[in-house]
Amino acid sequence: MATKKSQFDRQTLLQVLEGVGGEISFHAPLGASTSLRIGGPADALVVPADIDDVRMLVRQAKIGKVPLFVMGGTNILIRDGGIRGIVIQLTRLNRIRLELGDVLYAQAGVRMPTLLGQAIRRSLSGLEWAAGIPGTVGGGVVTNAGTKLGEMSDVLTAIEIVDDRGAVRRVDASELSFAYRYARVPKRVIVGAWFQLLHATKAQIESQTKGYLRYRKDTQPLTLPNAGSIFKNPLGTSAGALIEATGLKGMQVGDAQISPKHGNFIVNTGNACAHDVIRLIQKVRRAVSARTGVRLQLELKVVGEALS
Ligand code: EPU
Repeated sequence: MATKKSQFDRQTLLQVLEGVGGEISFHAPLGASTSLRIGGPADALVVPADIDDVRMLVRQAKIGKVPLFVMGGTNILIRDGGIRGIVIQLTRLNRIRLELGDVLYAQAGVRMPTLLGQAIRRSLSGLEWAAGIPGTVGGGVVTNAGTKLGEMSDVLTAIEIVDDRGAVRRVDASELSFAYRYARVPKRVIVGAWFQLLHATKAQIESQTKGYLRYRKDTQPLTLPNAGSIFKNPLGTSAGALIEATGLKGMQVGDAQISPKHGNFIVNTGNACAHDVIRLIQKVRRAVSARTGVRLQLELKVVGEALS
């Protein structure tokens, strides 16, 4: 059984954070930064102003033996006791630039809708699959985010990381390995990524993107807090369809509910806590397994400590 980690005292955290720029807060609630609006506090939350802050933080955290957790916020469930150590949010790493006419470089904190918007503005095709994906570039890379139309690894050519020693390195996509909603990337912090796109007609890109956004609005509960797909699709079938066939749509634990609109979404209808979501997930897995024999695998990443 996993043992509970104790909180880091402010003195230790202050030592590790010495000289690091950006915004820093202690005992910081994380729920508001997640798309599910759920989660306990971080011992310290840091929003670095630039890559140099990330480098300093990585080096000093290693010396101080304080764990770092990089948080995106969309495909994640943070348990109610929160995260021990330092949580980094890369929202201020938000630069995008065009290189060589058809390569877009984006820092890890760029939101996927912004990246797609920039590609459309420049008549660059290749990211249409990302329409409606709410996460960030960094989060998208580490989860190999995607939809039926495509995924990160189709267009990613390289990533920029801050390694364990605090050095900035470019790592070619050929050195990474990807599978369905999975990426094996070097340890530490991804701070940017390069995407190889193709020139196309703006009207064509826009129409495909709009059609796809409409499909998502029609089929997914996008107006309530949610974390995207909860389970990976089992080979050859859809988790949502299996959950619907098991009669679980609308099932609720506390304020966590299996969306009546899409079986593979859990929505927070009010004040759900992580414990509610976890119990609901357990019930769904048990019921689907009993009814269909399929063991659903989580796509949602569950992190942090439970409340004792
Ligand atoms: N279906 C049902 N009942 C449901 C939900 C779906 O019968 O409650 C059926 C649909 O009718 C359809 C099939 O299942 O025939 C597939 O459904 P859908 O088109 O909604 O796609 P999905 O496989 O459930 C995947 C991605 C989504 C992405 C959509 C659209 C996964 C795990 N999910 O969902 O990605 O938006 O396709 O491209 O691959 C995400 O990963 O967070 C995410 C939202």
